Amino acid sequence: MSESAPPAAAQGMSAGTTPKLELRHLSMSYTDRQGRTVQAVDDVNLTLANKPGVGELAVFLGPSGCGKSTILKAVAGLMTPDFGEVLIDGQPVEGTGRDRGMVFQSYTSFAWRTVRRNVEYGLELQGLAAEERRARSTKLIEQVGLKDFADSLPKQLSGGMKQRVAIARTLANQPRVILMDEPFGALDPQTRWGMQSLILDVLRTQDNSVLFVTHDVAEAVYLADVIFVLSHRPAKVLHRIEVPFFESREPGLKQSAEFKRVEAHVLEMLHTLQVHGNVRVGL
Ligand SMILES: Nc1ncnc2c1ncn2[C@@H]1O[C@H](COP(=O)(O)OP(=O)(O)OP(=O)(O)O)[C@@H](O)[C@H]1O
Ligand SMILES: [Mg+2]
Repeated sequence: MSESAPPAAAQGMSAGTTPKLELRHLSMSYTDRQGRTVQAVDDVNLTLANKPGVGELAVFLGPSGCGKSTILKAVAGLMTPDFGEVLIDGQPVEGTGRDRGMVFQSYTSFAWRTVRRNVEYGLELQGLAAEERRARSTKLIEQVGLKDFADSLPKQLSGGMKQRVAIARTLANQPRVILMDEPFGALDPQTRWGMQSLILDVLRTQDNSVLFVTHDVAEAVYLADVIFVLSHRPAKVLHRIEVPFFESREPGLKQSAEFKRVEAHVLEMLHTLQVHGNVRVGL
């Protein structure tokens, strides 16, 4: 495990290669009708390397309300930064696009579409033939454990099931950059492990970049290639932690000494953030 302070460490790429994703001096705020402004993100800089054939998963860890979802909205193109920019393959993001897919923190399914038609939504927009749509949705609906509910409407599903529909719908489009905002929060441990394996499989086979928000440190260490620890609002990157490559990502890994060591290190950082505020300390 290596850990160091940004901005130098925020580069995370070898010279001369175009990063897959880059946030440059990203600053964002919300203004209400009375003109009061809440600064949510302040000068966030980070880079995800382009790793053909393996993809990369980055996790944001940070206190509630610090600005994680806001950063994801900027990458999705749902919100324009006040300052700075988001670059994908060196190109500035302007608005939403099919190269990115987001699983939101709240359940977002189309109420009037069945599970299958929700999953196929993006594929319909792309004009994919019905047979191809059906093949992809069938596979994903099975992978997220909703085979028996393909013809159900969202209102007939539980919260966690709805969230799995949203995950399947996003993955169906095979976006290059997947944005996941606490996607597994509503799931029981077993289902959550299944979803974690699914994401790792997708990453290996489709070589995507994933930005993932969670409050679960074990989940962060299990999934991430790199973890960004964010400050209290407005979000700044306090630490970039390269998670060591674990040979196997079987669920038993979480009991191993190496895994526990990384987990303890990250927990210590979050604890320091809680006790001492937004200071960058070497641990
Ligand atoms: N639509 C909005 N209008 C006004 N303020 C907002 C809006 N969305 C978020 N904020 C404010 O911006 C700040 C950052 O919010 P954000 O949703 O990015 O936090 P977060 O890190 O995702 O938190 P959590 O872990 O609780 O999901 C908060 O202070 C919040 O009140
Ligand atoms: Mg959030």
